[in-house]
Amino acid sequence: MSQDAYRLKRPDGTETELPVRKGTIGPDVIDIATLYRDHGVFTYDPGFVATGSCESDITFIDGEKGVLMYRGYPVEQLAAHSSFIEVSYLLLYGNLPTATELAEFDNMIRRHTMLNEGMLAFFKGFRYDAHPMAMLSAVVGSMSAYYHKEMDASNEEHRNIFAHRILAKLPTIAAAAYKLNTGQPFIYPRNDLNYCENLLHMLFAVPAEPYKIDPVAAEALDLLFILHADHEQNCSTSTVRMAGSSGANPYSAIAAGISALWGPAHGGANEAVLEMLEEIGDVSQIGKYVEKAKNKNDPFRLMGFGHRVYKNFDPRATIIRDMCHKVLQRLDRKDTPLFDLAQELEQVALKDDYFIEKNLYPNVDFYSGIIYKALGIPTSMFTVMFALGRSVGWAAHWREMISDPKGKIARPRQLYTGPAARDYTPINKR
Ligand code: SDX
Repeated sequence: MSQDAYRLKRPDGTETELPVRKGTIGPDVIDIATLYRDHGVFTYDPGFVATGSCESDITFIDGEKGVLMYRGYPVEQLAAHSSFIEVSYLLLYGNLPTATELAEFDNMIRRHTMLNEGMLAFFKGFRYDAHPMAMLSAVVGSMSAYYHKEMDASNEEHRNIFAHRILAKLPTIAAAAYKLNTGQPFIYPRNDLNYCENLLHMLFAVPAEPYKIDPVAAEALDLLFILHADHEQNCSTSTVRMAGSSGANPYSAIAAGISALWGPAHGGANEAVLEMLEEIGDVSQIGKYVEKAKNKNDPFRLMGFGHRVYKNFDPRATIIRDMCHKVLQRLDRKDTPLFDLAQELEQVALKDDYFIEKNLYPNVDFYSGIIYKALGIPTSMFTVMFALGRSVGWAAHWREMISDPKGKIARPRQLYTGPAARDYTPINKR
């Protein structure tokens, strides 16, 4: 057997080899591309727990060691020294920008934040209480109606302008959705503000008075966006890749990713964490809810705990918890019972044998909602905020997927468990 192969024994006793491929770091993969052709069998892996769907140079995660790197840079270093716009450049183009490259990229993003006025009209069709994730998905999907002419995926310039428009316009769309929910007038973006200052301005400014941007809030948002920017082949990113693999318009692929992120098992968890903390209400109730989470007959799960990959701590949760504490202090927030409750819940769960043996630790969603709430962002907007950070990761993965010369449409197979062939019976014989 060659060093780089696994030997497979067929039921008839004959053997064959499957090639093994090695990445830069991380687990090797067994290449099964010829398995069905040569052996007439599929692999079976619901939820793709142990399945590599593609090669990627963008993000690396080590679930056991709690490692997260964007293009090889540890997220802790980027969180400490970088900005969301610089991290966006890194994720899209593969290297940290020079000062000139960063200035040009930042200017490009600032000058694409406005929406076509026709796109703004969509918001007149939504009810005042429409969920902002539904509005975000719908209006981002409509971008494929506005930009279908400039979308030749083989054209590098078109791939660039797609990424710039997604990064630049999603905050404007998100803020417009929030303003519809509040009944306040839409606030246009300003090119003199940076990415997070502009978002705060569009969310919270009103025509009736000047709005003062809190630098602590802008700094907190920038860090949260860095930490949410990408995460390898998670559910929503895999959705963007799958939708894009058919050659669909990339704006539609991003809209599909937004829909996938909305689920409470994925990006919707940050909204569900706050609802859960508000339902628990008091530290005296923590034990009852931890028991509910452990009860197999109870569908309740401790939202913000557990992760498909991190079977140790989620490095993002550690950074966000520290920043959460700092934000509450610097905003001089006295009403920190939710943060106190979250910290107590974390301590109780981490000492519980069930959570220890199942490797359930706080994930990125556990503390982020507390910060959004402290910044005055309503719970319904939490997953929208996640989508704003993740938008650049989706765009980077779409670019990587569509530029792959070996790329093909994603089309998994199945284990069929339905009825064997049978004949149609006339209705009077049923
Ligand atoms: C994100 O993939 C990504 O990278 C996602 C993400 C990203 O950046 O894109 O990191 C963002 O989605 C974070 C996860 C947010 N979701 C939640 O916080 C929801 C609560 N967590 C669970 O739903 C769950 O932990 C998942 C969905 C996150 C992970 O589920 P898996 O990997 O499919 O694991 P599992 O559901 O099979 O759980 C393993 C065991 C099960 O028990 P057994 O069947 O083995 O007896 O642990 C239990 C589960 O019942 N379990 C929990 C639990 N999470 C898992 N029990 C109680 N509370 C929980 N939170």
